[in-house]
Order: sequence, then C-alpha cells, then structure tokens
Amino acid sequence: MVLVLAAVAAACAAVWLSQGFLCMFVAFVVLGVLYLLAFHSRWCYVALKTAPRDLRALFSYVKILWITKKFARNEVTIPDWFHEVVNRHPDKPCFLFQDEVWSFKEVEDYSLRVTAVLKAQGIKKGDIVGLLVNNCPQQPALWMGIARLGAITPLINTNQRGNALIHSINVAKCDALIFSDEYQPAIQDVVKELSPSLKLYKFSHRPLNTSNAKSEGGGDAITDFTNLLETTPPAPWTLANADGFQGKLLYIYTSGTTGLPKAAVISNARFVFMATGLHYMGLEGQEVLYCPLPLYHTAGGVISVGQALIMGVTVALKAKFSASQYFPDCIKYNATGAHYIGEMCRYVLATPPSPADTQHRVRVIYGNGLRPQIWKDFVKRFNIKSVSEFYGATEGNANIANTDGTPGAIGFVSRIFPSVYPIAIIKVNQETGEPVRNAMGLCQLAQPDEPGVFIGKIQSHNPARQYLGYVDKDASEKKVVRDVFQFGDAAFISGDILVADELGYLFFRDRTGDTFRWRGENVSTTEVESAISRFADHRDAVVYGVLVPNTEGRAGMCGIVDVDGTLDLVKLATDLARDLPVYARPVFLRVMDSVDMTGTFKMKKTDLQKDGFDPKLAKNDKLYYLDLKQGRYLPLGVEEYERIISGQIRL
Ligand SMILES: *[C@@H]1O[C@H](CO)[C@@H](O)[C@H](O)[C@H]1NC(C)=O
Ligand SMILES: *[C@@H]1O[C@H](CO)[C@@H](O)[C@H](O)[C@H]1NC(C)=O
Ligand SMILES: *[C@@H]1O[C@H](CO)[C@@H](O)[C@H](O)[C@H]1NC(C)=O
Repeated sequence: MVLVLAAVAAACAAVWLSQGFLCMFVAFVVLGVLYLLAFHSRWCYVALKTAPRDLRALFSYVKILWITKKFARNEVTIPDWFHEVVNRHPDKPCFLFQDEVWSFKEVEDYSLRVTAVLKAQGIKKGDIVGLLVNNCPQQPALWMGIARLGAITPLINTNQRGNALIHSINVAKCDALIFSDEYQPAIQDVVKELSPSLKLYKFSHRPLNTSNAKSEGGGDAITDFTNLLETTPPAPWTLANADGFQGKLLYIYTSGTTGLPKAAVISNARFVFMATGLHYMGLEGQEVLYCPLPLYHTAGGVISVGQALIMGVTVALKAKFSASQYFPDCIKYNATGAHYIGEMCRYVLATPPSPADTQHRVRVIYGNGLRPQIWKDFVKRFNIKSVSEFYGATEGNANIANTDGTPGAIGFVSRIFPSVYPIAIIKVNQETGEPVRNAMGLCQLAQPDEPGVFIGKIQSHNPARQYLGYVDKDASEKKVVRDVFQFGDAAFISGDILVADELGYLFFRDRTGDTFRWRGENVSTTEVESAISRFADHRDAVVYGVLVPNTEGRAGMCGIVDVDGTLDLVKLATDLARDLPVYARPVFLRVMDSVDMTGTFKMKKTDLQKDGFDPKLAKNDKLYYLDLKQGRYLPLGVEEYERIISGQIRL
C-alpha cells in the first residue's frame, strides 16, 4: 500500500513537474508497473523469480549463436575446425580409452591416414561410408577422415543384427561400410542380402605398425582396413572438400516413432550447435569428461565427442557401460564431468556403497533422463555439485536444457520472453498424439500443469531452429506440424509428452505413438511385431510397453494368438535373439485364444496395456517372462509376478 501511494505521489509529482515527454514517460512506466502489480501479481512473482535463470540462459544462447555464426561465415566443417584445435594444443590428451592416451595430434594423424586410404579406394565427395564400429578413439577419427573427402558417415547402431542391420545399411544408401572385426559374424550373416557393389572394410582396434607388409586380399570380398592404414602414407592436411557448414556430416539412426530405424541427418551446423549448446549451458573450459555412452547415438557421438573435437576438451571413452566401474573409471581418468542417461544413474545408484563414491573429482554430470525419483539421492551419495539435464531430439530442432539444477526438470521455457526461443507445449489428443486445434484451426498452447506434446518452431536460416529430418523425405514430413500459431508456419513435433510448471520448468511425461523406451533405447513396436509375425508363422501379434514398478521406461510385452497350441516358445526366443537387439526383445508374452480387432483390423492395444503383466487380470491367457540368462520364456504366475514387483526377478 505504501508502495502504491509512493508511486502515485511520484507520478503526480512527475506530471506536476512536467517539462516534457520524459516525465510523461516516467509516469506511464510507473502506472504500468502499478497496473501489473494490481492485476497480474502472480505474473510479476513468476517474472521476478525466473528472470535470473532466463537472463543467464539468454547470455549462453547468445554465445552459442555467436560461435555458430562464426563457423557459418567461414564455412568450416568439423575436421577443419578440429585442425585449429590441434594446432592450439597438439600434445594435449584428446581421448582416453582403456590405458591408451590419444593426443589431439594423434587423432588428426589417424584421420589423415583414413582420408588417404579412402581416397585411394575411390571414395569421393557425396559418397556414403557407413561405420559399424564400437566405442574407441578411432571411431571419430574414422568419420573425420571420411568427412575430409566430403563423404557422409552413417553411424550404425552396433546392436543391429539381421533385418534391422540390412535396413540401416540400405536406407542410408551406403557405398562402403567399415566394421569392427568383432561384428564380422553379424556382417557375414547378412552379406548375401547386401548390394554386391557395397565395399566392405574390416577395422581392427590395434596400434598401427607401419612396418607391416601389405596383406594380399586373395580375392576376399572383405578388405583389411587397418592394414591399409598401416601401408598408406597419411594424406597431407587440407581443408575438407565438403559442402561447408550446412553440408551433411553424419547420419544418426533413431527409431523415431514408427517402423525400422530412420537415418536422421546431422549437418556440421547441427553438430556444432548441439555440442556448443551443452558446453555453454553446463560445462567449464578445462574439463575431463567421462563418456560410457555409445558413440553411434547423438548423446555420446555428438554431445560428448563434440566437446573434444570443437572445444578441445579431453574425453575418456568406455567400450561398454558398467555400473560398478562408473566412478572408479572417473577416478582413473581424473574426470571432472561425466555423461549419463537416466537408466545408467539408476544402475550406478544400485551398486553397493564404496569409497569411490566420493573419491572422484566429478563436479558436473550431464545427460538426459535422470528422473526426479533418484535425482536427489544420486547427487547426495556421489557428492555431485551440478547436474546438466538436457533434452534434444536427434532429428529435431527442439533442444532444451535444465541450466540451474532444478531436480527432475529437463529444461525450461521462459515465461517472460517465450518467443526468444520458440519451443512450446501444445495440446494433443492423448491417444492419437494429434494436436487439438481451435475454431480457427490453429494449435493451442497447453496451460501450466497440463500435459502436451513438445514442439520446436522451424526457421531455416537459424542453425538452432533448422529441421533437417531424415534421409527419407516422407518420414521427415510426418514429424512436421503446420499452421501452428499462425497460418503458414511449421514446427517439428517431438512426440514426447511434457508438462510445464508455473515457472516454466519442463518435465517429461511419456511418449506418444508406437514407440516406448526400454533401457534407454526406443523400441519400435511395429518393428518387433513384424519380427514376431515372421517367426511365428504370421500369427496375430501385438507389441506394447507395460509399466513395471520401480523400473524406468516400459517393458515390451507381446500379445500373441495361438489357437491350436502349436506355438513353439523356445524357437521363438532363439529366433528373436538372433534378429532383435536385446532391448527390443519382448520381456513378457501373453498367449491368447483370440483377440479384439479395431475397425481397421488392428489388434486393440490399449485394453491389453491396461492389464499389464498381472496374471490375475489376464484371465484365461497364459503369461510368460523372458529369462535372459537362459534365453527362454518361463511361465509367469502370481508368485513370479510378486517376485518381479519386489525386484527378486530381474528383467
Ligand atoms: C611391426 O611389424 C614388423 C614387421 O611385421 C615386426 O617385425 C615388428 O615386431 C612389429 N612391431 C611391433 C611393435 O609390433
Ligand atoms: C590424474 O591426476 C594425478 C594427480 O593430479 C596425476 O598423477 C595423473 O597422471 C592424472 N591421470 C590422468 C589420466 O590424467
Ligand atoms: C528416440 O526417439 C526420439 C524421438 O524420435 C529421438 O529424438 C531419440 O534420439 C531416440 N533415441 C534413440 C536412442 O534412438
């Protein structure tokens, strides 16, 4: 009240003193503030509370845009920029791996050998050279060597086998494929179904011995790539012969929301935006980062590797995530930052307490999917000062980060200046994922606490807002929604259901559509259904995800019709193990006599999904669960159900 009176007095005084517009202006401002305080006090509270957060993020965002503009002006590509980083500190460790230390110079030298070999093999600008290579320092060196020739590298998921592997190679239209020797059996299994013109190169993780002699191919269809590296002098350094900053660099596969894996296009611009985005939102200059995530996904392969290639940070790589080694590894490598996905944190938290819990020097952890339930326990037990939780769709343009450590939030949208960074949550039909439109036909913003689908507005001139989509144009178009807030505008629709709170913090709810998450991977129900139908004599089968208490994501469940009792579960389990990566194999089976169909002859999922894996709800159907050790489906009765819920049976 005092404030109001004082302000009114000030306004009157100003008008009384009025010598000109300045005083009028002051009066208007004061009246405006009064109006806001009187009628929008809640908004004022939110604005005051969130202004520091928004300003800090705005400052980082300006830095990110500034660095991407600089790259764009000079048309740099990643190997070009890396050369500058190498020149700044050639001998600094770039990658740490097992007991190997790779300096920046060594990584570049390796990539120059790759360039020389592939050039001699006839690879040229615009060609596609797939990589099926496990985590190691050579993996980024390989694709940089390829990028220097202006060729594009699809990073193939190393879990893929059978059909999915063939599909990944074909959908990207690979001209050549470099695979680690450990995947030779997987390649041999499918080689007959690959194009005969596809050149195959086998890579081995071994130190190069340049006095080795050239091995004679002996008419073998597979060439020893490492031997070629040993026997070919490195290419002299040159700028990349590529399409500049906007040119395509990598394809990274996502299972998107339907069907087999899709190859999402990663340009140099997008690579830089994603890597610098994390850097300026959560990291400091001189970090050593620990990354146990696979390098064929954006998280490991762009976000973490990008810190080394663009920001000159040391990154420790791990061949395969191990919960018990997570912090001991961080100690070994003196890591100050560590990368996670939510599931990993859960497994690390489940390890028995050890001195390593607090002996490490990790200051910040960064990644996505750290759930509110374990966030506080994790940072407390492992003494983590800061968490950078972020969210970004590989193929999309909707990236957000939680910059102030608010537990559980995956980012925020400014309540004061929502249009600076045009992302939004719009109302959708929860069943179909379709936007709900108003009378004019435009989309509607979801209110605070109202779930909706997360979208990112598309602006083709801004690297932060571009949408490059997939290699497959039709699939790309499916992820675009038009006439969002104005007629003629467009946005990338993520398919993820988020909720915003009053302060604009965003929380993850669920995914729409035909995909669910299990063990940090997207499982495409259509892909699993088609595999099952193939192996089970085209029986009706429907795949969906069910919630398991105390477990992140959804466990795959397959409802399958077996009228005459001839379904062979042992054979089904072995067939699926051969064709599907472990995370995609159904954890539960529900064997049924008949099934309800929709009008379009789709099996009705939602009712089955509601029953979950509870034998009491399954009525006359028989339930099974997958025992991974035995690789077989075992009967699931009331007793097993209880033991799964209590965690005695691990899935
Ligand atoms: C490198 O290869 C040469 C010739 O094959 C061999 O004599 C030498 O021992 C090898 N060096 C190492 C370090 O393996
Ligand atoms: C970690 O730090 C210690 C002491 O500061 C140092 O002796 C050691 O060489 C470092 N290890 C690595 C891998 O950088
Ligand atoms: C899962 O799907 C989302 C949305 O399509 C995508 O952004 C993300 O990269 C995918 N994750 C994996 C592991 O494929």
